[in-house]
Amino acid sequence: MKPELFHKPFDPPNLLRYMLRHTRVLAAYLSWRILSILVTVPFPVITQRIVDRSIPNRDYAGMCLYTCYGLLLLLIHYGAMRIALKELSSNLQVMMRAMRARIFQKLQFMHFGFLDKTQTGRLLSKYAFDTQHIEGAMIPILFNVIPETVRALALTLVLTWVDPWLTAFVLLTVPVFAIVRISYFKRIRRSNRAVRLARERLTGQASEFISAIKLVRGFGQEPEVRGNMENVSDDYSASRQQQMMVNQSMNVMVFMMFTGLNLLAVAFGGFLAIQGVLTIGAIIALVSALPVILNPINLYTQVSIQYLLGSESYQSIKEVMDSGYVEKWQGKEKPSPLRGKIEFEHVRFHYPEKEELVLHDLDLTIEPGEHVAFVGPSGSGKSTTVNLLLGLYAPSEGVIRIDGVPQERLGMRYLRRNSAIVMQDNILLSGTLFDNIRFGRPEATNNEVVEAARLANAMEFIEQLPEGLDTKVGERGVSLSGGQRQRIAIARALLRDPKILILDEATSALDYESETLVQEALNRLAKNRTTLTIAHRLSTVRRADRIVVLSHGRMVESGPYQELARREGGAFHSLLTAQGEA
Ligand SMILES: Nc1ncnc2c1ncn2[C@@H]1O[C@H](COP(=O)(O)OP(=O)(O)O)[C@@H](O)[C@H]1O
Ligand SMILES: [Mg+2]
Repeated sequence: MKPELFHKPFDPPNLLRYMLRHTRVLAAYLSWRILSILVTVPFPVITQRIVDRSIPNRDYAGMCLYTCYGLLLLLIHYGAMRIALKELSSNLQVMMRAMRARIFQKLQFMHFGFLDKTQTGRLLSKYAFDTQHIEGAMIPILFNVIPETVRALALTLVLTWVDPWLTAFVLLTVPVFAIVRISYFKRIRRSNRAVRLARERLTGQASEFISAIKLVRGFGQEPEVRGNMENVSDDYSASRQQQMMVNQSMNVMVFMMFTGLNLLAVAFGGFLAIQGVLTIGAIIALVSALPVILNPINLYTQVSIQYLLGSESYQSIKEVMDSGYVEKWQGKEKPSPLRGKIEFEHVRFHYPEKEELVLHDLDLTIEPGEHVAFVGPSGSGKSTTVNLLLGLYAPSEGVIRIDGVPQERLGMRYLRRNSAIVMQDNILLSGTLFDNIRFGRPEATNNEVVEAARLANAMEFIEQLPEGLDTKVGERGVSLSGGQRQRIAIARALLRDPKILILDEATSALDYESETLVQEALNRLAKNRTTLTIAHRLSTVRRADRIVVLSHGRMVESGPYQELARREGGAFHSLLTAQGEA
């Protein structure tokens, strides 16, 4: 899917319209489901015929015939139902899979201005839970509400055909039943909401304490935590108790209504039968049809709660899908081969949510193959500079050109695929160390992976592991130290053989000795590619062709190491002095 597609609004404004939009996908299902329902409609008539015609006439053959009709209808019902179920389950999953794919795809293109300020948990819940709620709302509507409504209407018609008096009775009872049912609706909704909120507090609190279990135990605070948990747990129990009361009292009420109305139906029919207006069979037809006719009212009130939940979820997904927060890059140019010339032209930048400038008028040209080191105090804008280069954010003013092509016209994915970045805090995906290194270039051979690990000075610790490169690491690579993770990330970057190599404090977590070794490898690798090194320890940038000193978002000095180091009173000189290197 192309990113520009995302600028179009996400489908219909609400869940109902979304479902209507998909009627074509669901048409086959609905046809089979409605067929399966319609074949059950004649049953009250069959009963009526047996009672009114076969029994008084002692007509055994007729009785058998009616029974056979009924069995045949049931067989058709079964067949249609099976097809319908298959259609629904597969088509619904197609819809949900497409929805999840769209959300994920959108997130992949989402502007970091949005991602920075949105909790990961919230995005995750859109992806996983909101789609589930939508499914949860759609299933009962498609499976029960629509077909049962059709059945109730059809049955009412059939009753009219048997005897108009029966319909008159139905028309009187339906509103009475509806009023009782609706009067509970608000109370049920309120109690469900209370339960949901209490549950969110309970799981939120529990998950916080579980993930902080080391902290709690380390401080010996278990009793306080237990007290805290018991409070939220009590709240939850109370809300559940209330919910159960409301639900049960409604169930009792519904049972009484059903039974009472049935009794009334018999009495009403009996009265008319005595008058000679109605047959006994018609009374039986009415009694057997009444629950079916009243059923949709039950369903509406039950499903509307699920529907509300589903529509809230639908809106939450729509919010992401409709947001304009998408990377603005839609250029197509792919300078090939990429040489790696980088020009910052009067670049000014502030982060989307903050007004203050992080970079002021950065003007800098980096030649292909040049090795430039960025130094400066933390917060001076070094990482921001490389974020801008990779197009993770767009400059507020000014232009960045790669091989002379401004970012707007550049195929940004092409640029990123030809670059590699190693950061201070590197993310490992779950899988083996081997997989993690090969992430840099999936088509690399085994030997190339081993060679990259060796160059990154990672082999020495990998060989100590019982399973070597096949060692599994967790989502966060928890079992590895920061320095080990850094070496894996360096191997990943080296394997990629990028045209532009970015090292953002890539060796900061290594001890002095391994840093020297890794740095040697990195210096060797810096040849033949444009390299941007951000380093805190100034000893590691000696071999760079040029040093750029940033301070408060401005470039205050630039030149070869030796030249800057000699300039007494210069910015670089004072950084060196501070680190005891001068
Ligand atoms: N994602 C972000 N959103 C808002 N402000 C940020 C973000 N990242 C960094 N900053 C701010 O931008 C400034 C420069 O940060 P950065 O480029 O990371 O500095 P350095 O890498 O030189 O330590 C800092 O003041 C920092 O607080
Ligand atoms: Mg930084």
